[in-house]
Amino acid sequence: MSSFPAVPPTRIDFSAEDREWIAARIKQVLESGRLTLGPFGEEFEGEIARGMGVKHAITVNSGTASLEIMLRAMNVAGKDVLVPANTFFATAAAVMSAGGTPVLMDTDVATLSTSLAEIERRLTPKTVGIMIVHIAGLVTAEMPAIAAFARKKGIWLMEDAAHAQGSTLDGKHAGTFGLAGSFSFYPTKVMTSAEGGVIVTDDDTLASEAKIYRDQGKASFLQNTHIRMGYNWRMSEPHAVIGLRHLHNLPTMIKNRQRIGARYDAAFGGGHLLRPVALPKGCVSNYYKYVVMLPEGVDRAAAKKWLREERGVHCSGEVYEVPLHKNEVLKHLDPGNLTQSEVACGRQLCLPIFASMSDAQADQVIEGVKAAKDKGVL
Ligand SMILES: Cc1ncc(COP(=O)(O)O)c(C=O)c1O
Repeated sequence: MSSFPAVPPTRIDFSAEDREWIAARIKQVLESGRLTLGPFGEEFEGEIARGMGVKHAITVNSGTASLEIMLRAMNVAGKDVLVPANTFFATAAAVMSAGGTPVLMDTDVATLSTSLAEIERRLTPKTVGIMIVHIAGLVTAEMPAIAAFARKKGIWLMEDAAHAQGSTLDGKHAGTFGLAGSFSFYPTKVMTSAEGGVIVTDDDTLASEAKIYRDQGKASFLQNTHIRMGYNWRMSEPHAVIGLRHLHNLPTMIKNRQRIGARYDAAFGGGHLLRPVALPKGCVSNYYKYVVMLPEGVDRAAAKKWLREERGVHCSGEVYEVPLHKNEVLKHLDPGNLTQSEVACGRQLCLPIFASMSDAQADQVIEGVKAAKDKGVL
C-alpha cells in the first residue's frame, strides 16, 4: 500500500460555518411547518435564475427529474430526440421514460461533446429536439451554431448541463443556449443540495408546465385535479436550504477548482506527460472533471491501480467509462458508427479535482503521474 496520503477523486465540503448556517435555517423550516415547495425553494430558484440571467428556474428533486419534466413538457412521446452516446444513463433514460426514442450521436473526441456535422447526420424525420451534454464542464464552441441550426430546422435545443453549473461560453451560461437547461445537484457535482436538480428557461409556457409536472401534474398546489401525467418531483425545503448555501459558495468553489486545473495544465499542458482535453475556445470551465486522454495501448485499469496503490492518487470513475450503447439495457439503441464515443470513453482518465484540494495534493498527483510515466504504466 502507498506510503503517500490518499488524494480522493472528489470531495464535497461544508465548513463549520456552512453547517451552522444550514442548521439554523432547517430549524426555521421545522418551526414553520412548510417542509416542501416553500420560501427557501423560491429563494433558491430566484438566485439561480438571477445568477444565470434567465426568467425562470424550477427546482426539482433530481437532475433526472428535471430532464424528464422538460421532455414531457415538450411531448416527446412517439418522437425522436438526438442524444449523445457519451453521456450519463439518465440523459437517454429520461427520453424513454417520457415515451420518446433517443437517437444516439457519436462524440467529438476533442471536446467530448457532439459536433454540428454529427447532429446533421443523425437527424431523422421524427426528430423533435436535440439534447447537448456539457461533459466535464466543457461547453463546445459550436453551441451558437447548434442553436441556430435547431431554429432553422424548427426543432428545439435543450442542454443536460448536469456537469456544467457555472461554466460559460463567451460569457453565456451553460444551460441557456436553447429552450431549456437541466442541472443536477447530486453530491458529486460542483455544488449540491444533497439530492436535487433545476430547470432553467426563458419560456413562460415551459416554466408553468414544469411546475405542474413536478407536483403530480396538478393544476395547482392546493388542488387535487390532475391535468398532466406528473409525478412527485418536488424539492423539499431542507434540500433547498443546503443548495442555497452551496450556491453562495459556488464562485469560490469554482475558482479553487480552476486553480487546480491551471496547476495541472502547467504540468501537462505541453502534452509530453499526458494529453488533457483542451478547453474549447471561449469556454470558461467549472472544472467539474479534469480529463486527460491516455495514449493508445495504455491499460487504464492497471494505471489507476498503480497510481492508487503506489502514490495514493485515486482517480475517479471516468465520464464515462463506456458509451450508452455498451450498457446491457441500452444496447438496442446502437445505430452503428459510434466509434469515436468508444475512443473518448475508453481512453479517458479523470484526475482528482475538488474545491478544497490543496496545491500540495495537486503536486502529489502530478508527481504520481510522472512516476507512472517513468515506470511505463501510463
Ligand atoms: C450528465 C448527467 N445527466 C443527468 C444526471 C442525473 O442527475 P441526478 O443524479 O441528479 O438525477 C447526471 C448525474 O449524475 C449526469 O451526470
